[in-house]
Amino acid sequence: MTDIDELRRQALEAVEATTTLDELDEARVRYVGRRSELALAQRGLGDLDPEERKERGKQLNAVRGAVEQALEERRSVLAQAALEARLADERLDLTLPPRRVPPGRPHLLTQVEEEIVDAFIGLGYRVAEGPEAESGAYNFDLLNIPPDHPTRTEMDTIYVEGYEDVVLRTHTSPVQTRVLTDQAPPVAVVVPGRVYRADTVDATHSPVFTQVEGLLVDTDITMAHLRGTLLELCRALFGAEREIRLRPSFFPFTEPSAEVDVSCGFCDAAQRGDAAGAADCRVCSGTGWIEILGAGMVDPNVLSACGIDPEVHSGFAFGIGVERVAMLRNGVADIRDFFDADARFLARF
Ligand code: DAH
Repeated sequence: MTDIDELRRQALEAVEATTTLDELDEARVRYVGRRSELALAQRGLGDLDPEERKERGKQLNAVRGAVEQALEERRSVLAQAALEARLADERLDLTLPPRRVPPGRPHLLTQVEEEIVDAFIGLGYRVAEGPEAESGAYNFDLLNIPPDHPTRTEMDTIYVEGYEDVVLRTHTSPVQTRVLTDQAPPVAVVVPGRVYRADTVDATHSPVFTQVEGLLVDTDITMAHLRGTLLELCRALFGAEREIRLRPSFFPFTEPSAEVDVSCGFCDAAQRGDAAGAADCRVCSGTGWIEILGAGMVDPNVLSACGIDPEVHSGFAFGIGVERVAMLRNGVADIRDFFDADARFLARF
């Protein structure tokens, strides 16, 4: 026969010893559950004679009551402890200083590219873009560069293996012909983008670099419009004091063509008209002028190839190298610095 006092002692001790709600539940099943010793004893009461049954029933009920009350008290103690533990665990200390994450900023090339583009958006141009893997038709043919033209080799074209007539564009000029075959004049676009040439890497050459192309086609467009526009651009990039000069040059897609120089801002030779006095200037080598971009009036052949009547419309175009501008303006001596992703270099701009 069950020793009731012992059972009570064990049960209360076990309840008191629990440290989690799960343990408490196990203790409940074990001491007052349907198959507990207590439950069995209570079920066995029917076998006793009435006197004994009454007495023992009372005792067993008292034990059950005591254990259930202990369970209940323990439950509220453990539940409170669990809640406090969770609150402590999930507590956010808003006074803790955050880990410092240094703010990022656009790459110098991106900054310069955006400055150029912004200058033209200010003049009413829109931005156009084209693919970097380009067909020879757009990169060369429509730009009046026939298959045997030396420019094709001079530009050290990178061909895309396995595709007939697909190159990595050697300049952003193909976007001119994409826009002109797509849209009737008036057209005014700026085209920023990456271009590729099979150049050997050195301090001034990289097989991938960045250009911004500009194109304006309308009626009665002259070289004077080109000149005024480029002066605006150079002053936006290099400062309000800069002057420009156009030297005759050749590009297959413009006629006439010009190489455009900006006056050197590092010495005053151009302003003073005195080249000799600046012979020690490392930026302009004492000439007072820095070559900065290529430009010209859109060749009538290009307009015709794009379905535009050169008798009715005329236009100008230019292409500027973003790396070169950034190097001149920000004193970067080596083009490789732009692509090395050295945080010490990047943090300077
Ligand atoms: N596409 C030429 C190059 O990459 C640059 C250029 C020159 C673009 C004259 C033009 C232009 O639009 O008119 O060397």
